[in-house]
Amino acid sequence: MGSLRTRLALGFFAVALAAVALAGAAIVPGLEERLREAKLRDTAAIADQYAPQLQEVVGTNVNARRVLERVRQIADQTSTRVTVLLVNTRNGEIDVSPTYDSFQTNEIDLDFGVALQSARSGRPQTGTETGDSGRVGQVARPLFQRDPEGRRLLGYVAVFSTQLRDVESSVDVVERRVLIAGGAAASIALLAGILMATGLTRRVRQIETAAGRVAAGDFDARFPLDRSDELGQLSRALDDMRRQLAELDNARKRFIATASHELRTPIFSLGGFLELIADEDLDPETREIFLAQVREQVARLGKLATELLDLSKLEAGSLELRPEPTDLTVLARAVADEFIPALSAHDSHLELRLPTEPLEALCDPERVAQVMRILIDNALTHTPEGTDMVVSAGRRDGRVRIGVGDFGPGVRRAMLPHIFEPFITSDDAQGSGLGLAIAHELVERMDGELVVESQPGRTTFTLDLPA
Ligand SMILES: Nc1ncnc2c1ncn2[C@@H]1O[C@H](COP(=O)(O)OP(=O)(O)OP(=O)(O)O)[C@@H](O)[C@H]1O
Ligand SMILES: [Mg+2]
Repeated sequence: MGSLRTRLALGFFAVALAAVALAGAAIVPGLEERLREAKLRDTAAIADQYAPQLQEVVGTNVNARRVLERVRQIADQTSTRVTVLLVNTRNGEIDVSPTYDSFQTNEIDLDFGVALQSARSGRPQTGTETGDSGRVGQVARPLFQRDPEGRRLLGYVAVFSTQLRDVESSVDVVERRVLIAGGAAASIALLAGILMATGLTRRVRQIETAAGRVAAGDFDARFPLDRSDELGQLSRALDDMRRQLAELDNARKRFIATASHELRTPIFSLGGFLELIADEDLDPETREIFLAQVREQVARLGKLATELLDLSKLEAGSLELRPEPTDLTVLARAVADEFIPALSAHDSHLELRLPTEPLEALCDPERVAQVMRILIDNALTHTPEGTDMVVSAGRRDGRVRIGVGDFGPGVRRAMLPHIFEPFITSDDAQGSGLGLAIAHELVERMDGELVVESQPGRTTFTLDLPA
């Protein structure tokens, strides 16, 4: 009962039924009324035309035979029943009695209420009454006489009666037709509803099945994309979602595979060195070299673990930012100072191009410093010894910018579009390729932007932050 199919089909059925009922209600009652009125109008026209002929025969010297003949003649010509009623006045009460009737009956089955009304008012009257042969419409016309003194008297009333039976049967026919048409329309609507609803529910079920498969992790599931209606649009939206989920799933798998590979390499190398160190015949000098390697691998593992944790926190959105008003010139100077030993080991000079007045921004100073460290560290790691670099800061269009540039050989062209993805790294250093991925995520969390411009001889990373 609750299914879309049943509801749609019943809805169609109900609408069709209601439409037919409404049409019937609008047509049938009015129809009977209109047909009856038309019939009475026709009879009134007949009465207008033939009443003078009756008037003529009852005007003076009434001859019963002549009157009856005229009555029958008119009835024959007009297919109405013609009755002439005598008007009596007794004790001041007006009364009518049927005297001549075109029907050859002994018993008069009608009351002729209209005739009485007409006799009392002296005016034409119209009405209906029910006799032996059903309902009749009646039109009464007063007929006048002249008395010996020449006064005009109301002597008779002529009544023209017409059967209303055919009106009723016409209405019955219409009613029956409306009912049959209504039943047929409702049945067709029910059938059409079932067919349409079946088509719709089949498509909905296809979408449901595909969504279920995607939910279970099967990204090869296909949504029906062959139509452009609302369900087609829903399918398309779900298919987009499926594609994005598949991409995400792929990225996640790649991430886990690379991360575990990245972790495994230093661990294997550590194991190898530890075995070598365990050799008792090892001379102290070589042992020292191996120990240095062990320390380096441990440091690398530690850095990797911290970076992976940072990245996963960033991606899960659980990294908390603590924005505070910060003077970026002070911050840039402090971070640059941290690199004095590394710069001198690399034989490089770092130039600071900072404005003289404070450069205030509302940001998390610790996180901005982390991004700058990642960028300066890269400028040191991925350039040959003796390469100089520039750290600049300034304000533009209501935002603040920090630039970290170097005059090294630049990023490889093929790598440039992927440089902010995790684990993208070159072989020149023992990095894991997470530095820029973390920097990029951090900057996005701060509603900023990190862009790179690189060509041989000049590479600049620009950090753009809301002020
Ligand atoms: N200033 C630069 N000049 C040339 N290449 C760069 C520069 N900065 C980054 N790159 C290239 O971009 C890659 C990705 O940098 P990223 O900092 O993400 O990883 P990494 O430095 O290789 O490793 P990690 O920082 O995780 O130790 C680097 O391997 C390097 O090839
Ligand atoms: Mg790096």
